[in-house]
Amino acid sequence: MKQTDYTATLSFSNGKPSVEMPVYAGSIGPDVVDIRKLYAQTGMFTYDPGFLSTASCQSTITYIDGDKGELLYRGYPIEQLAEHCDYLDTCYLLLNGELPNVKQRDDFHHLVNQHTMVHEQMQFFLRGFRRDAHPMAILTGLVGAMSAFYHDSTDVHNPEHRHIAAIRLIAKMPTLVAMAYKYKIGQPFMYPRNDLSYSGNFLRMMFGVPCEDYVVNPVLERALDRIFILHADHEQNASTSTVRLCASSGTNPFAAISAGVACLWGPAHGGANEACLNMLEEIQAMGGVAKVGEFMEKVKDKNSGVKLMGFGHRVYKNYDPRAKLMQETCNEVLKELGLENDPLFKLAKSLEKIALEDDYFVSRKLYPNVDFYSGIVQRAIGIPVDLFTGIFALARTVGWIAQLNEMIGDPEYKIGRPRQLFTGSAHRNVKPIEQR
Ligand code: SDX
Repeated sequence: MKQTDYTATLSFSNGKPSVEMPVYAGSIGPDVVDIRKLYAQTGMFTYDPGFLSTASCQSTITYIDGDKGELLYRGYPIEQLAEHCDYLDTCYLLLNGELPNVKQRDDFHHLVNQHTMVHEQMQFFLRGFRRDAHPMAILTGLVGAMSAFYHDSTDVHNPEHRHIAAIRLIAKMPTLVAMAYKYKIGQPFMYPRNDLSYSGNFLRMMFGVPCEDYVVNPVLERALDRIFILHADHEQNASTSTVRLCASSGTNPFAAISAGVACLWGPAHGGANEACLNMLEEIQAMGGVAKVGEFMEKVKDKNSGVKLMGFGHRVYKNYDPRAKLMQETCNEVLKELGLENDPLFKLAKSLEKIALEDDYFVSRKLYPNVDFYSGIVQRAIGIPVDLFTGIFALARTVGWIAQLNEMIGDPEYKIGRPRQLFTGSAHRNVKPIEQR
């Protein structure tokens, strides 16, 4: 970042001396006011719950222009990456800052392929869970448990350890997600196959059985790979900020990533794809498109607590570019599977059309986000609804790792420790119990 030729002055109407703060500019996007010395100079904090106006770090990884609906991974538009690259190319880009050349690509694919198996004892963890446990509960446990096995890659301050942990996490997440699924349905775990692509291998571990060969459908393989690309990273979202804050204490990469998995689970964040599909099925059960108007009235009634899941975004005040690409993928998959008339897809498109013409949504700049169509395409592929967020976590692991690496590698980094505006009881003394 570079200091600009102008500063910000904070003045107080009560005669308190004003404070001048430097302003920094990035390569693109909003400038920032550097308030790091504010408390030392004024004894005051800024107040920004939810961090609506707070830049927590400087980063070179992902840029979002919410007004334009633009998303860049290391400067490359998501549309071009989805078109010309695969997920592992995208992983290489996010981790290293550049797209791989032919040799780098082959070496990286080979390296990931060689780490797809998990320690054989990890399967015993699953036996401890109830069969009806939510896959995200299982995944949070399994990812954290990796720090109990891979002791040669737990030192977050050691770049070699971080590299090994990154490869292990990227390579093993599909295996762990598939194991969580197989455990739920009572089928045997499928070992990874290194002769398959990253997404082809995942499909086989999910839907293959030991009794027969599994043939990967290339359309589904490509669709899944694109879903992974679209979910790979997204600036300083809630789960990424969780990973950064968690890793800032110096904990190991597996523990920090498991914190990201836990945060992503929430319905306001990565859990929205599951919540969106459940919402569509609920409207469908009520009567489908005919009931959309009634449902929308509930959404617009503040007291209902009902939200149009898969809509709205803290940053995008335009169409989420990932939602457009996801809708295209949806079309391709439904066509391949002969499900063009999928009622939920038609319902989603009618919901979107109505919302984009309704002043409640237009005035609040609420558009479909990445989660609006992702559930429909995953359901068509055969992925169960409660595993959607696990797929999101699988794909987002590389983004979390890249952001963690960037933070730890930043000489300016400190352990994250926000302050507060205290509104509780001031000092008071304990009274004897008979006087309380
Ligand atoms: C992801 O941050 C990221 O980058 C996340 C993510 C990533 O890749 O990491 O993009 C992934 O999490 C996408 C978002 C998935 N969540 C959902 O689809 C859940 C539904 N969306 C909402 O919960 C909401 O839009 C948020 C949480 C996504 C954003 O909320 P904000 O920025 O805090 O905005 P807000 O809640 O203050 O909403 C502003 C207004 C409010 O109305 P008013 O108080 O102004 O009258 O819009 C309304 C909200 O009630 N609103 C919605 C709505 N989203 C916002 N009303 C109905 N349905 C919705 N979905």
